[in-house]
Amino acid sequence: MTGLAIEAATEHVEVLVMGEEGEPLAHEVEDVGHGHTRRLAPLVARALAHARVRPKHLSWVAADLGPGSFTGVRVGLATAHALALVAGSELCGASSLAALALASGVRRSLVVPLVPAGRRDLYAGFFRADSRGNVYVLAAPRVAPIEELLGDVREAHVLVPGSAVRFVGPGAPRVAEILERAYPGSTGSGWRHGGLSALDLARAARSDRGPAAGLPARGAAFRALYVRPAQAEERVRRRVNAAEPTQIRELRTTDLGEVAAVEREVFSDPWPESFFARELGTPLIYARIAEREGRLAGYSVAWLGHGTGHLGNLAVVPGMRRRGVARALLEDLMARARAIGVEDITLEVRVSNFAAQWLYRAHGFRLAGLRRGYYRDTGEDALVMEWRP
Ligand SMILES: CC(C)(COP(=O)(O)OP(=O)(O)OC[C@H]1O[C@@H](n2cnc3c(N)ncnc32)[C@H](O)[C@@H]1OP(=O)(O)O)[C@@H](O)C(=O)NCCC(=O)NCCS
Repeated sequence: MTGLAIEAATEHVEVLVMGEEGEPLAHEVEDVGHGHTRRLAPLVARALAHARVRPKHLSWVAADLGPGSFTGVRVGLATAHALALVAGSELCGASSLAALALASGVRRSLVVPLVPAGRRDLYAGFFRADSRGNVYVLAAPRVAPIEELLGDVREAHVLVPGSAVRFVGPGAPRVAEILERAYPGSTGSGWRHGGLSALDLARAARSDRGPAAGLPARGAAFRALYVRPAQAEERVRRRVNAAEPTQIRELRTTDLGEVAAVEREVFSDPWPESFFARELGTPLIYARIAEREGRLAGYSVAWLGHGTGHLGNLAVVPGMRRRGVARALLEDLMARARAIGVEDITLEVRVSNFAAQWLYRAHGFRLAGLRRGYYRDTGEDALVMEWRP
């Protein structure tokens, strides 16, 4: 199983060719600055030549999915994709943050990989290492200056009581003083390289740990993890979204056929239609439909009781995402909660469901608990998030 790993998420680029037993056959390393577009293809060609391996003999090609340099991630992914197409080989990948966390080698710790994000910002991942050194993703990554990220670290640390805090990755050295002041001894170990490593990337990308470790599920769509969208894309999206309003109304029994069909498309563990039907008849239920241009765009189901509420379900039709549909549903729910004096709303979300966590965070929900191994299909943990008006 000869393979090739491309680590191009920062200026420090590595290309590694690995033999059948996982032994390195060639390892090319270069600090390319902003020259990913120019430098990556020659580095790959050189590595293959040194290893005396032809592209058609590669069984797998691995790429860093980000976050990191936008150009580096895009060029790395495109190159890996092209090679895999030519070779007919498996394309695999891991995020820079998961590759760093899995290689950290620490135990009983909150592991926070840091990758430079331009100017004063850093990308931060949140993982937990158990007493045997197994690493699990804990919460969605964030991008911010370190002072702000330390607030997120404190919030995540509460979920893993008794754990040390470890910062790893190429973003850590430049803020080491601040990190050490906040968490003494947190930068000392677990970081072995001057930059991201193609070997760590290959190991993460080839691992079968899946979503519980913050890695793509086998066979899932291959997607980059940018964490922050490009500014140009953002401007266009906001203009398009503002043009079509989202309407919110009560979810009725007559909607259930359509809702259940979306539910089956969206979730690996869907609620059956009969469950929706039963719940609609109960007194505390607050179930809503979102429509755009007269078509079903999303739905939410919550229970709003005396002083406390729980959001049980929220989904947006795949073709209607990133248009403010979930935002409209959540704002409607929060307005209702305020109006009837609900003091907190809780929900559970998969640790690997970054889009949903970003959505809830953007609306003031905070991490409030961890239910280990809660989801049977992937063995993933559930995060409990909580909102107080
Ligand atoms: C999570 C989900 C409900 C989001 O719905 P959506 O309509 O696409 O979200 P919105 O467009 O209303 O986004 C509102 C905010 O959430 C955050 N957000 C939502 N999806 C995001 C994504 N994919 N990437 C980054 N931020 C995201 C952003 O802060 C966004 O604000 P912005 O548009 O100003 O950047 C949708 O992806 C979905 O249905 N996923 C599958 C079902 C699911 O996971 N449900 C939640 C179970 S707990």
